[in-house]
Amino acid sequence: MGILYDEKQKTITLHTKNTTYQMQIDRYNFLLHLYYGKRAEGCMDYLLTFYDRGFSGNPYDAGSDKTYSMDSLPQEFPSLGTGDYRTPACIIKNTDRTYSSDFRYVRHSIRDGKYSLKGLPAVYADAAEAQTLEVVLEDRVSKVRAVLLYGVLPEYDVITRSVRIVNAGEGHVSVKKLAPACLDMMGGDYDFITFYGRHAMERNFQRLPIGHGVSKIGSLRGTSSHQYNPAVIVAEHDTTEESGSCYAMSFVYSGGFQSEAGRDQYYQTRVLMGFSEEQFAYPLEAGEEFQSPEVILSYSSEGLSKLSQNLHRCIRTHLCRGKYKEAVRPILLNSWEASYFDFTGDTLLKLAEQAAELGIEMFVMDDGWFGKRDSELRGLGDWKVNEEKLGCTLGELITRINGMGLKFGIWIEPEMVNEDSDLYREHPDWAFVIPGRRPNRSRHQLVLDFSRKEIVDHIYEQICSVLDQGNVEYIKWDMNRSLADIYSATADSQGRVLHDYVLGLYDFLERIVNRYPDILIEGCSGGGGRFDAGMLYYTPQIWCSDNTDAVDRLEIQYGTSFIYPVSSVGSHVSASPNHQTGRLTSLRTRGVVASAGTFGYELDLNQLSEEEKDEIRCQITYYKRYAALIQKGLYYRLTNPQTADAGAWEFVSEDGKEALVMAVGTRQHANMTVDYIKVRGLEENKMYREEGSGRLYNSTALMEAGFPMPVELGEYRAYQWYFVRED
Ligand code: GLA
Repeated sequence: MGILYDEKQKTITLHTKNTTYQMQIDRYNFLLHLYYGKRAEGCMDYLLTFYDRGFSGNPYDAGSDKTYSMDSLPQEFPSLGTGDYRTPACIIKNTDRTYSSDFRYVRHSIRDGKYSLKGLPAVYADAAEAQTLEVVLEDRVSKVRAVLLYGVLPEYDVITRSVRIVNAGEGHVSVKKLAPACLDMMGGDYDFITFYGRHAMERNFQRLPIGHGVSKIGSLRGTSSHQYNPAVIVAEHDTTEESGSCYAMSFVYSGGFQSEAGRDQYYQTRVLMGFSEEQFAYPLEAGEEFQSPEVILSYSSEGLSKLSQNLHRCIRTHLCRGKYKEAVRPILLNSWEASYFDFTGDTLLKLAEQAAELGIEMFVMDDGWFGKRDSELRGLGDWKVNEEKLGCTLGELITRINGMGLKFGIWIEPEMVNEDSDLYREHPDWAFVIPGRRPNRSRHQLVLDFSRKEIVDHIYEQICSVLDQGNVEYIKWDMNRSLADIYSATADSQGRVLHDYVLGLYDFLERIVNRYPDILIEGCSGGGGRFDAGMLYYTPQIWCSDNTDAVDRLEIQYGTSFIYPVSSVGSHVSASPNHQTGRLTSLRTRGVVASAGTFGYELDLNQLSEEEKDEIRCQITYYKRYAALIQKGLYYRLTNPQTADAGAWEFVSEDGKEALVMAVGTRQHANMTVDYIKVRGLEENKMYREEGSGRLYNSTALMEAGFPMPVELGEYRAYQWYFVRED
């Protein structure tokens, strides 16, 4: 059993295989947080301390006891107005226009299975795999309830958290701030690990000590964003890849967000994950409720690699869905960097022919096939096949491509409209524009108001009528700007529009997933601008970055790997010199880096020499041979490519029998020093044979001393070593 209630101690304990999370209903019915860490039994309320602290006030119930203060006690769901002056998880504007909430425990229930969230993505698990805890808190004056949901997946060392705010009072209230996950930590020195970036350089790893004051990351863009990813890690200062305590919080949400981490006056740490505060004010009439998305939490006492592996397994097997979630994905060729908007049906077929000849399995027609879309300037919103450009119907094109033995995939960007489009001319009020103001343009496009169902319905119909024209087996779902000018003509409150937009997007995706269960969807937002756990519920893979440069990708994929499984990372071999950086790298290096993801190609194959074509054939054979190990193996980061002379990483089968190590040199000097790569995750003191050299290695020595990376002339040299245990 994952969840235990101790009636005497009034503790609720959530156990997973290796972790324990404990809370207590205290003497005044506040819900206090006691412990989250390595698995432990018993009551941890001895951790609470009570001292008379100046300017830390006391709840009225405490009478003359000056030692009891919400300003210093660790809590599950802190709100504004209880005397806790730290950053709260919840602010509600009450009917009487005050902002105080005093949530106290009312009741709780425990049930088998994992809760689901209507209209929202969420981790799923059956009654044998998970349990749900529901704790009802209430503010006795406003009658607003906070229903805390905890999903416990013992085998995955994962706990999920969500909250439902219920207005059981009589008047109108507004939810101004909401963070479904709060972690209060009484002792310890922690770092805040976040993933910052920009378009084409996403998810850079940053690790900074949590100091006094609040560090905040987030997105005001209506999407999870390239700039900050909605996932954070809190790690003790001395935590490494291999040892030490660390916690992850991954928001299962694709809209704006914020995460805050700070140390309070008593050196206690609070970390929150939830909605972005600036753009959120969700109205609730009497009787209405608001369900938040969930946050995935995980804890590891064995360092960051284990923490990432926990998240990878949970996301891959209990968040991603559909027939492809565990399957090796088809190797694809995408037309974008091969020809951008400049193609015809004939040039596509020529490209597809080459792809088929090399062993590629799927052909993806990217942007430019619909409306008058020959450049970024026009066409978005007009989801009608440009048969003139293709020289045939979509059905005919797909039949021909299928005839070559290739699957067919197509690019769409349903949330967008160009002003130069029939859709915009017909419905100018469907785009986000504030009356009286001129809208912000980005990539010459505006965003459709997906908070309105009629707009979602209209685009959905158009997209379905395209998909129904032939055997489409893959969709690349793009989204190429940040939201702005948020105003919805039909909304009763503008504070709900951004969230309703995300719900509209999820509704659209859910309908597509249900209607076309066999289609593989790859998410995309200018590459990785919406790379989050929410999208992965609908799209088991996401185009990781518009930056296909193999060397930059080392850092982008490194950052991404802390949270997201390799099976979700869209990664392609593109041309050299690279189109984003101008950098030259070998085909081998590009192949090795792209193979640490869902593998594919994105270049004009007709420009390649016979020698390069042969190399691609070999890459495909090699990738297919190890694809299952790559997608499902335990992932280890062996170096940090931001600082090391090489980027190195490893996939190990869960039984420890085989390991694939990959490395790419990042810095080259004369008279190079030697780097040693320490392999990880092997079974101790066994012999492993490295396939390329045929050499036998002792696994303990491989893990303790490593093996030398070759010193060779040339930049960005790439290597792969496959080790298999001799049984
Ligand atoms: C975005 C995507 C690219 C490509 C273009 C097409 O930038 O990230 O991969 O699909 O749009 O316009």
